[in-house]
Amino acid sequence: MCPINNGNERIQSNKSSMLSREEIQAIESWISQIGDYHIFTTTQQRIVTAKNTLKFKYKIIGHGFNRIVYDLNNGYILKVALSEVGLIGNANEAYLYNNCTEEVQKYLCPVKEFGTGWLIMKKLATNIPQAIMEYPKLIELQFIFLSYGIIPIDLRLANVAFSEDNEMVVIDYGLFTMDLKSPVLRWGF
Ligand SMILES: Nc1ncnc2c1ncn2[C@@H]1O[C@H](COP(=O)(O)OP(=O)(O)OP(=O)(O)O)[C@@H](O)[C@H]1O
Ligand SMILES: [Mg+2]
Repeated sequence: MCPINNGNERIQSNKSSMLSREEIQAIESWISQIGDYHIFTTTQQRIVTAKNTLKFKYKIIGHGFNRIVYDLNNGYILKVALSEVGLIGNANEAYLYNNCTEEVQKYLCPVKEFGTGWLIMKKLATNIPQAIMEYPKLIELQFIFLSYGIIPIDLRLANVAFSEDNEMVVIDYGLFTMDLKSPVLRWGF
């Protein structure tokens, strides 16, 4: 497991028990290019370039605007940043998961390990129809996070999944913050 930083620093040791040295190097190569992309480059263009740079054998299980997500086929998924916001999101998820209380942790998808621009998380079942049925639970979750001093920015149905015991769990909490001085808020997302 990589050391935990304060969520704003980008320097982490890039060691993994699941990714090979070559895979880490491919991620480093991709991450080093992120800054070259103009802010108006589309997500689709970034995905194509990321895929071609990473050349992973893993299946893509999903993506958002900021991260591409691979299924590691061992019960875990790998999120690789597609943008600066994705870099912050990965660091923020690792920080939040490792620094919140146990009461909060049970609503967050567990982070296994992370490095610069990447993060490995438990794979959970994403089932939007079921999530729609449980819309009141989503609202309840907003209040739960707020009651623990966490602002759940971007908490929506596409960003939740279900645990083995069918509890709603957040899989994308990259923009959540415990800190009102967070870059997430400064950037105005
Ligand atoms: N832990 C997980 N288990 C299973 N699938 C996941 C997991 N995390 C992410 N995914 C899949 O990958 C997609 C994108 O992940 P995520 O929402 O974290 O990316 P993002 O780029 O931060 O999204 P956004 O556009 O909201 O910023 C999810 O909608 C989901 O389909
Ligand atoms: Mg998302």
